[in-house]
Amino acid sequence: MCGIIGYTGPLEAPKILLEGLSALEYRGYDSAGIALCMEDSKICLAKKTGKVKNLEEYCKKMISGSAHSGIGHTRWATHGGVTDVNAHPHRAGKVVLIHNGIIENYHALTDRFHLQDRLISQTDSEVAAQTLNELYTGDPLEAIRSLIGLLEGSYSFCIMFEDQPGVIYAIRNISPLVAASTPSGSMLASDLTALIPYTRQYFVVPEQHIVKLTPYKVHVYNLDDTFSKDYPEIMTVNWNMDAAMKNGFPHFMLKEIHEQPEAMRNTILPRVSKGLPCFSDDGIPDHIFENCDQVQIIACGTAMYAGMVARAIMQPVLRIPITVSIASEFRYEEPLIDEKSLVIIISQSGETIDTLAALRLAQKCGSTTLAVVNVKGSTIARESDYVLYTHAGPEIAVASTKAYSVQLAALYMVSCRMALVRKKYTKEQAANFLGELLDVIPAMENVIAQKEHIRDVASHIIQSPDVFFIGRGLDYAFSLEGALKLKEISYIHSEAYAAGELKHGTIALISDQVPVIAIATQQHVYSKTISNIREVKARGAYIILLVKENAVVDENLADLQIRIPDVADHFTVFPIAAALQLIAYYTSLGKHLDVDQPRNLAKSVTVE
Ligand code: F6R
Repeated sequence: MCGIIGYTGPLEAPKILLEGLSALEYRGYDSAGIALCMEDSKICLAKKTGKVKNLEEYCKKMISGSAHSGIGHTRWATHGGVTDVNAHPHRAGKVVLIHNGIIENYHALTDRFHLQDRLISQTDSEVAAQTLNELYTGDPLEAIRSLIGLLEGSYSFCIMFEDQPGVIYAIRNISPLVAASTPSGSMLASDLTALIPYTRQYFVVPEQHIVKLTPYKVHVYNLDDTFSKDYPEIMTVNWNMDAAMKNGFPHFMLKEIHEQPEAMRNTILPRVSKGLPCFSDDGIPDHIFENCDQVQIIACGTAMYAGMVARAIMQPVLRIPITVSIASEFRYEEPLIDEKSLVIIISQSGETIDTLAALRLAQKCGSTTLAVVNVKGSTIARESDYVLYTHAGPEIAVASTKAYSVQLAALYMVSCRMALVRKKYTKEQAANFLGELLDVIPAMENVIAQKEHIRDVASHIIQSPDVFFIGRGLDYAFSLEGALKLKEISYIHSEAYAAGELKHGTIALISDQVPVIAIATQQHVYSKTISNIREVKARGAYIILLVKENAVVDENLADLQIRIPDVADHFTVFPIAAALQLIAYYTSLGKHLDVDQPRNLAKSVTVE
C-alpha cells in the first residue's frame, strides 16, 4: 500500500519520479505527490488528490526550473481523508518525508512533542515528520535512529533534509523497499517496477536499516552507529520491461488473463523431472512433506481461495488434516500447530502484512514453513524456511488473475509430490496427475479464445445489483474466487454459496431475473448441483451455467452457458478461473469502470 520512490543523480528528477509513480500507482491511487530539491537547494512540494495524471498536470503549471533529486509518493489513505493536505510528502521545518505503513503511537508522539498546534494534516505520517524535525540537530542518521526508537508500527520512510541537498535517506521496518545504484544515479522504490527502466540490478533494503542515497552511491547503515557489515545481496530482475507494460492490451488485467498459459508453463515445467514433480532445484527436501502430521495453509483474499482449492485436492489423497486460515484471523488465534506441522503460506506480493505476521507466528510455534510467492526477494520469501516461487512475472492489475492460476499450479505440484513421498501415489499415478495438470494449459487457452462469448454473457449481469455464485465441493471453492473477482472490479454485490446451503436462508434473496452463476464440473455431485440450480430457476433466477463441453444439460435449465474443455474433475479450476476472470473483466468494462485500479483497493496490502 502506498508507492514510494526516491532519486538523486544527474538526470532530471521530476520525469523519473512521475514515471516511477505511474508504475507504482497500483499500490495506491487516492493521491500523489513529489518533493524536489531545486537548484537553490530549497525543497519544493507538489501534491494532488486523484491519479498521478492529475499530479503531472499540476506539476506542469507549478514547477519551473531543474531538480536532480527528489522523492515521490502515491497514497492509499489510512489516517485522514483523501485531500491535498493529507497527501504526501509532509514538510516539518527542514524535514520533508513520505511514508508507507501506519504509525500506531502517533497520538502519544503528538502529546509528547506538543505537536497539536503545528499539524496541518490528519495523518500519522505528518506526526512522524514533525517528530523527526524535533529530533534533528544537523545529523540525519542520528535523528532517524532516535525517531525509530520512538515509533511503533510498520513503516518505510523516504526523507530529505533541506540542509542536505542531493541526499536522500530511507528507513525500512516491515513495509517493503528496494534500492539500486545505477550509472544514471541512485534510486529506491517500494517496488521494482519503478526501477527497471534504469537498472536490472537491485537490492532489498534490510529491515531496521537506513539507506543513504547520494548521486552515485547507496550507503547502508544499521541502527547502531556503524555501516552495515554485510552489504545486501545484489539481485537481478528476471523479467523484462515488456512484462510490466500493457503491450497492446487495453488493460493489464486482460493482458494478465492472456498470460496465464505461459505463466503456468513457466511455473510447472522447470519442476518436472523424469515425468514427476521435483523441487530439488528449489532446495525443498522431501522430508518436509514426509514428516508432517498436518498441513496448515494461510493466506489472504484470492491467495486464500487458492488455498481452499488446494485443500480440497490434498486432503482426500494425503489423509491428514489440512486446514486453511485467513491470515488476519490466524495471527490472533492460538493455532494448533507445532513442530510436526507443515505451514504453507501463499502470497503473490510476498509482502501482505497479515500473511507475514502469520508466517512469523508459525515459526514461533516451531512449524516448518513453505511459502508459495511470486515476487522474488520479498519479505515472506526471505523469511520462510523454503520458497516455491511462482513464475507469473509482475502482476500489475489490482485484481489477481495469473497469480491465482500459478499458485494453484504450484500447490497441485506440492500435493502430487507429497502424495508420492508419503506413498499415497505410485510413480505412475503421480505422472498421470502431472500429465493432467499440463492438459489444463490448452484448456485455459480454449476458454480465453471464447472471450467474445463471455463478453456477451457479462452483458447480461451489468445492470444487476446482485449476483450469486453457486457450486458444490471444488466448484464451491472456485465460486468464492469468482464472486471476489466480480465484486472487486464491477462493484456488483456478489456472493458465493455452497449450492446445497442456499435453501437454508439465502434463497430468500432469489427473485425474478437475479443472475445466478452456477458451476457444475464435479461429476460426483453433478446431479445434486443441477437440482439446486432447478430450485433457483423455479424462483425466477437468470441462470448462467459453467459446465464441461460434454455435459448433457436440459435445454430449459440455463439461460446462458459457458462450456469448458473436458479436463479431469480435479483440474477444472484452471479453465473455470479463466472464464470467471473474463466475466468480471467484461462486466467492469461494460460499466466503464477502472478495471485495473478499482476504487478503495491497492495491490499490495502492507497495513493491517
Ligand atoms: C484479489 C486480490 C487480493 C489478494 C490478497 C493477497 O484479486 O488480489 O485478494 O489476493 O490481497 O495478496 P498477496 O497474494 O499479495 O498476499
